[in-house]
Amino acid sequence: MNYRHGFHAGNFADVFKHVFLTRILAYLARKGTPFRVIDTHAGAGEYDLASEEAVRGGEWQDGIGRLADAGDLDVRARELLRPYLEIVGPLRADGPPARYPGSPRIVQAMMRGQDRVTFCELHPQTFADLRANFRRDARIACLNLDGYIGLNAGVPPKERRGLVLIDPPFERTDEFDAALNALRSAHEKWPTGTYALWYPVKDASAIARFATAIVESGIRRVLRLELAVEAPLAGGKLARAGLILINPPYVLEEEAAILMPALARKLARTAQTGILREWLAGE
Ligand SMILES: C[S@@+](CC[C@H](N)C(=O)[O-])C[C@H]1O[C@@H](n2cnc3c(N)ncnc32)[C@H](O)[C@@H]1O
Repeated sequence: MNYRHGFHAGNFADVFKHVFLTRILAYLARKGTPFRVIDTHAGAGEYDLASEEAVRGGEWQDGIGRLADAGDLDVRARELLRPYLEIVGPLRADGPPARYPGSPRIVQAMMRGQDRVTFCELHPQTFADLRANFRRDARIACLNLDGYIGLNAGVPPKERRGLVLIDPPFERTDEFDAALNALRSAHEKWPTGTYALWYPVKDASAIARFATAIVESGIRRVLRLELAVEAPLAGGKLARAGLILINPPYVLEEEAAILMPALARKLARTAQTGILREWLAGE
């Protein structure tokens, strides 16, 4: 377990994932009844972009750094990005924001008094940081365990509505299999929950096999989004990332139709951007 998200915090893939996280949470918060979030691979919760890791990685510059000026986007895209950008806080054209929020900070910012959340994080030091960041919030439980075990134990939540975010580091070669197994058994126990799985696109054939396996699992209402900011793995850097969304809010497809081109335009490293938006499985 060597993965340290601090190197990547605020990069294009984080922006993409976190924007859609805020859209799902905004939808869940439309109703007064409580919701539950289970974040299986939570990370530390927030990241100091002036830290040695973040400076060495420098990836935020091609991510959140590109949104310092979102004023040229169409008004609908700006409106949909607003909750995300408000949580990130003021952006400067000449340097990083003081801190970049990880998924836990974003969830915390958008949950209400009646909502509950479970964050799982396996890495001991990262877990210590996570717990220190959230220990004063009684709505939040931080668990130092494998996220797939935490997920299995946590579904169905008593709230019966909510989101599971699965955002693994993809260090293990069998991560797609592990994620699919976890999704399958969680979905069997809680078929109405919303699930969001983030994945990097490094090996197109592995992704194709994964997509086929999802279709063959029989899970319905599966939306797949992918965003490419340059040609595949140009210069060895991650250039394409995806989200598998099960039971996305009904407004999400339309929101994605507005947001994906806007994100591609802002985050493009070269002219070779790409967007994929397709239902792997319908109703
Ligand atoms: C991509 S990062 C998470 C980023 C976070 N979701 C965010 O959006 O800010 C993946 C995290 O999973 C942790 N991790 C690795 N294996 C894990 C496991 N089996 N269960 C839970 N966490 C794990 C890593 O230590 C790392 O902090």
